[in-house]
Amino acid sequence: MDDTVIDREFAEAVREGLHQRPRRLSSRYFYDARGDRLFQRIMASPEYYPTDCEREILRERGPEIARAIVAGGVFELVELGAGDGSKMGHLLDALHAEGTAFVYRPLDISPHVLDLLAERLCPQRPWLDMQPWAGNYMDWLAQPRRPGVRRVFAFMGSNLGNFEPPADRDFLREIRDSMSADDLLLIGLDLKKSPEVIRAAYDDEGGVTAKFNLNLLRRINRELGADFDLDGFSHRPEYDPDTGAALSYLCSEREQRVRIDALGETFAFVQGECIRTEISQKYDDALIAELAAAAGFEVTADFRDRRGWFTDQLWRPIGPG
Ligand code: AVI
Repeated sequence: MDDTVIDREFAEAVREGLHQRPRRLSSRYFYDARGDRLFQRIMASPEYYPTDCEREILRERGPEIARAIVAGGVFELVELGAGDGSKMGHLLDALHAEGTAFVYRPLDISPHVLDLLAERLCPQRPWLDMQPWAGNYMDWLAQPRRPGVRRVFAFMGSNLGNFEPPADRDFLREIRDSMSADDLLLIGLDLKKSPEVIRAAYDDEGGVTAKFNLNLLRRINRELGADFDLDGFSHRPEYDPDTGAALSYLCSEREQRVRIDALGETFAFVQGECIRTEISQKYDDALIAELAAAAGFEVTADFRDRRGWFTDQLWRPIGPG
């Protein structure tokens, strides 16, 4: 651990989370370079259905979605999070087929992920005006708007489900508050379904999700000088069909103490004690309606895959803004 490269925000989040009861660590820290690669492998695993479902929607219903977007006039497509280029390509192609020029602005905290996205999308699409932006979404939103150009936001992949309520609603509100009346939000949400299907998606046979979850402890070891024993914790996913919350935990296999040098602290774990690391919320119509209304939106279109497992929806802002 090199003191000059300690990410203080990360260190403080870890300190705060490990002092909380029950203990928590935020899934936003899953995504270091190794975490990015593991997430790519999760998306390719047979059990992790959301990516395939959303790809199917964008491939099969892309033209309808594109028509609904283009109908409102000149726009730029602002994707919050760089996403998976293979899915977005279908929508970009459908928008291009409508014959209107538009700018595609993927925003992401990671310049590396944006480079990968460009490599994936641009070679076969010489017409694509892609203007990526690396940084915090909210900083981009604060920039002046291009006069006469609507903003169509895309927040795909059920990324909203990783926000702990009420942060999900607060985040949507912030987007809403930046929107003009004729802007749109295209949002991807994973739906409630058979608990077995959901449980398998977060506990794949190949053990990639377990590695992804444990990678958080590996990252704390590397970046904060900790000595988490990765064999001393196990990945435990849970799903509650009533609330739709799929939760991931890392649970201590035995009584143990963990030193974190960057914090100057030692944390004691009893056997079976768990750290909650992620929520992946699953939605139903009532939950979606409630969330949209609370954040100042109205659902105007709903596109589902053939099994009805996932939805991509168009939301328009309502009320004063
Ligand atoms: C990125 N996010 C929507 C994924 C999810 O399904 O919650 C992250 C993930 N966690 C475990 N598997 C996939």
